Amino acid sequence: MNVLLFGATGMVGQGVLRECLLDPGVQSVLSIGRSATGQRHPRLRELIHRDFLDFSPIENDLAGFDACFFCLGVSSAGMTEEAYRRITYDFTMAAARTLARINPNMTFIYVSGMGTDSSERGRPMWARVKGKTENDLLGLPFKAAYMFRPGLIVPLDGIESKTRLYRAFYAVMAPLLPLLNAAFPKYVTTTEQVGRAMITVARQGASKPVLENKDINEV
Ligand SMILES: NC(=O)c1ccc[n+]([C@@H]2O[C@H](COP(=O)([O-])OP(=O)(O)OC[C@H]3O[C@@H](n4cnc5c(N)ncnc54)[C@H](OP(=O)(O)O)[C@@H]3O)[C@@H](O)[C@H]2O)c1
Repeated sequence: MNVLLFGATGMVGQGVLRECLLDPGVQSVLSIGRSATGQRHPRLRELIHRDFLDFSPIENDLAGFDACFFCLGVSSAGMTEEAYRRITYDFTMAAARTLARINPNMTFIYVSGMGTDSSERGRPMWARVKGKTENDLLGLPFKAAYMFRPGLIVPLDGIESKTRLYRAFYAVMAPLLPLLNAAFPKYVTTTEQVGRAMITVARQGASKPVLENKDINEV
């Protein structure tokens, strides 16, 4: 399986990249980001791209992939709806529309989050924006598309969030996180579980397009 990875420098993306490089069935990973991961691996290639609204300059590099794991995203804390929508919806759809056109056999997996609002009408701004993103992704002509909705993700293997607020939270909660993961599989997962689940779902599919935290852990 040849994998395209967005957000490989982030907490979720680092976990997904790690599992991809550990899996002998993943032949290659191409990371697309505005910054490099700093990792070296014979099966990893990186492409630095600045304009996430326009992928036409790198379109030739984006063909021939079996799966895309889209882990790029930000916390909505302190952001206006317009700024949050630009990264969450506009960046994701610009990439996905390009990929659906040039990779009709691709499985596209998007990381949204627990509480995402499929009705697009609820009060929390982030949940509406993620809901519209999910809905529009599911309408694109991919071979298959899956929406992952993790709750709290425990970072393992030395992985850290890029968001300062989350780093502080994880540092304070560190002793409790493994216990929470074991006790509350409906709400808590790990970077390893998310990464493994993405690879498995890309290979075998899943029984439904939207996977909640519990479904991710079960996969
Ligand atoms: N962490 C959790 O517990 C959790 C739980 C549920 C859902 N999620 C969702 O998972 C996704 C990833 O979260 P995370 O925790 O991995 O976040 P993170 O650690 O903050 O990483 C964010 C990733 O997105 C990229 N990115 C952010 N803004 C960008 C921009 N303007 N242009 C280009 N790239 C940009 C970052 O690249 P740079 O390195 O270049 O900044 C990085 O690769 C988000 O959608 C989040 O809502 C996370």
